[in-house]
Amino acid sequence: MSGVLAAESEELVRIAVTVGTEAAELVRNARSHAVTQVDTKSSETDVVTAADRASEQLVRDRLAHLRPGEPVLGEEEGGADSLDGLVWVVDPIDGTVNYLYGLPFYAVSIAAQLDGVSVAGAVVEPVSGRIWTASRGGGSFCDGRPLRAAATTRLELSLLGTGFSYDHARRLRQADAVNRMLGRVRDIRRCGAASLDLCAVAAGWEDAYIEHGLHRWDWAAGGLIAEEAGAVVRFPGSDDDGLGPEATFAAAPAVADQLRAALVESGFGKV
Ligand code: IPD
Repeated sequence: MSGVLAAESEELVRIAVTVGTEAAELVRNARSHAVTQVDTKSSETDVVTAADRASEQLVRDRLAHLRPGEPVLGEEEGGADSLDGLVWVVDPIDGTVNYLYGLPFYAVSIAAQLDGVSVAGAVVEPVSGRIWTASRGGGSFCDGRPLRAAATTRLELSLLGTGFSYDHARRLRQADAVNRMLGRVRDIRRCGAASLDLCAVAAGWEDAYIEHGLHRWDWAAGGLIAEEAGAVVRFPGSDDDGLGPEATFAAAPAVADQLRAALVESGFGKV
């Protein structure tokens, strides 16, 4: 990150929080009618509500006003042909299926990336009101309190988060790998919002999280929040560590190597 951007990253966080908070309010207020207007995307279970679209439009409009000319890559409308320079990466509702059902684990996720690397981000929860933030080199916070990943050292006492693809064949492979892994850790959680799983690793609420096939908007803000809390984090496209090219993995540092080895042995590298 250039020196200029280091100085600017706190401003980028402030903008992500401002815009994310406005979008979260829209998402919260829209729920009663938004969930009656549902379309599907990659599969019948991959849904998009009217609130996903309205939230992304709000974020785009506000960023165009506050940061004119900077490209935006969003879950619903795409955009940003290139990752060169500064790009805003937006998930207008991460955890849309939870939103649809009224489970309160969903969030608006906004990150600023420089050449594809997150430098600032905010994850805003419409229901709890929690605001998770990070800037590269500046630490990560929940409602202003500094975050630190767990100090867990033992694989068998680790709480592992994961998620399943909307693709039917892949989720069956994921289920097989989970089946092999379940006996090796304390327990496994599936929260339904990747950004919040990554924030949970940052807070020590989960010891680790793995999922294959996430999109950039799922991990861009939460991944930085986990990294800045001291977690070991690897993103899709990282060098081969046996977890496969599409893995997002975040773990408490003292147990990360044990977890990675167990995940590979359990078949997570082949899902
Ligand atoms: C989904 C959630 C879920 C994860 C899926 C994501 P969306 O994002 O983060 O936890 O398992 O892979 O696609 O579709 O709700 O924005």
